[in-house]
Amino acid sequence: MFYNGILGLHSLLRWAIIILLVVNISRSFINKTKPYSQLDRSWNLRLTIITHINLLVGLYQYFFGVKGFVLIKTYGMADVMKNSNLRFWAVEHITGMLIAIVLITIAGSVSKKTFESDAKKHSKLGWLYLISLLIIVAVVPWPFRHSLGEIPLFRSLY
Ligand code: HEM
Repeated sequence: MFYNGILGLHSLLRWAIIILLVVNISRSFINKTKPYSQLDRSWNLRLTIITHINLLVGLYQYFFGVKGFVLIKTYGMADVMKNSNLRFWAVEHITGMLIAIVLITIAGSVSKKTFESDAKKHSKLGWLYLISLLIIVAVVPWPFRHSLGEIPLFRSLY
């Protein structure tokens, strides 16, 4: 019951992160010639907070759920790497997401720094967020990846 709630939260926060990334990327490129504002900073901050919440939920699932570290403990690393389904859950999802979260965290600290021009700051943030978005989209278990099992787009909503 508790785990299902956590899984539903993890699944839904994916949409919040993707939407916030799209908002932040658009703002960085559209506002390129404008000064970096307090509003820009608050959109950056919202993304950092939501992403870190999903990181904590993901870590809980990885170490206490059935689709994370337990797979390596049960089958051994060599067998996990040979099976695309096990490899996705034990290695690919966590690695890709951690890289994306590190980039979003770096962007969070970039947003606090002063640069020689705000255009440079906008562009740095835009690129960091764009790369994070591409990585996240690549390692989300989308429903069309049938081999990963039945994974809804909006778990716990239907
Ligand atoms: C931006 C960050 C992340 C996003 C957008 C994301 C997205 C997702 C999605 C959409 C699912 C499928 C949920 C479902 O079955 O309905 C999932 C499952 C899972 N994620 Fe993440 N994830 C993120 C970060 C992480 C991290 C950092 C970890 C590990 C530390 C992690 C571990 C897991 C695990 C173990 C599952 C399977 C849970 C289970 O079915 O028992 N995730 N993730």
